[in-house]
Amino acid sequence: MGGGTQELSGSRPRIGIVGFGLIGSYVYRQISTRPELGLDVAFVHNRSPEKVAHLPPELVLDDLGDFARRRPDLVVELAHASVTAAHGAAFLRHTDYMPLSLTALADAELERELLDTAEAAGTRLYVPHGAVVGLEAIGEGRDQWDEVTMVMRKSPTSIDFSEHPTLTGEGITGDTVIYDGPTRGICPLFPRNVNSHAALALGGIGFDRTRSVLIAVTGSHTSDIEITARGEAADLTIRRVSPMKGVSGMFTLISALGSVVRAKSPGAGLQIC
Ligand SMILES: NC(=O)c1ccc[n+]([C@@H]2O[C@H](COP(=O)([O-])OP(=O)(O)OC[C@H]3O[C@@H](n4cnc5c(N)ncnc54)[C@H](O)[C@@H]3O)[C@@H](O)[C@H]2O)c1
Repeated sequence: MGGGTQELSGSRPRIGIVGFGLIGSYVYRQISTRPELGLDVAFVHNRSPEKVAHLPPELVLDDLGDFARRRPDLVVELAHASVTAAHGAAFLRHTDYMPLSLTALADAELERELLDTAEAAGTRLYVPHGAVVGLEAIGEGRDQWDEVTMVMRKSPTSIDFSEHPTLTGEGITGDTVIYDGPTRGICPLFPRNVNSHAALALGGIGFDRTRSVLIAVTGSHTSDIEITARGEAADLTIRRVSPMKGVSGMFTLISALGSVVRAKSPGAGLQIC
């Protein structure tokens, strides 16, 4: 990269990273080793400090309550849904916020509080599209969809049943429908698995009108998502199949970085919008 990046250094958008796991460490590495992205790391916070002990000490933020002193232009949560409940409104009073653990927003009161806070402060709540290919089209058609549905198929061993009051995932054979109903209801049951459902609801017709179906498929090695949206202006069917890595598809890393870059990178040249 030439002089453009050099001139920008010092005034580059500063990204606060909450959560240094699979996705957070990837986003950190990309921002800190690729100056052409035009971004700086404002801070990295992780609940267990040993995970970030090897990072430059000036980048590590021990107490998330002190985030504003690091002057972030965007805080990205790549940790846990509880971060949004505890700190989301505080972030938005100061700066833009992008939670990846979007299931947190199925709590209607919290969603309202965050949107009202952003409105009052003139800040933005970003919804990263994640696995939802075409979320911008779902959003653009918001007023005319009669129905929006996501059907997700994955192996029961890739579904985290720990928050479900009755199901354990044991003894499932063949294809088994685990949930079929409004997206609002599935989020607290499988918070780590259905962030894409929450993204679809937030970007489209909301948590109560969006329908979520989760099907356990024994022996599957993929995450298979099919989205349908039906309305006067269009019938849309989108399918995305990706290999599994932990609970996240591998494409998740690239997608998360893409959302951060699109939200804040100053860059020149071709831009998808
Ligand atoms: N929106 C999407 O499409 C999408 C896709 C995949 C994952 N996610 C969500 O993103 C988050 C991160 O995913 P991952 O695969 O990197 O997870 P991970 O488990 O690899 O990493 C999470 C990190 O956050 C830390 N952490 C946990 N709770 C914390 C807290 N309260 N405060 C600070 N740090 C905390 C953990 O110590 C860990 O280092 C998860 O909540 C996951 O559900 C969203």
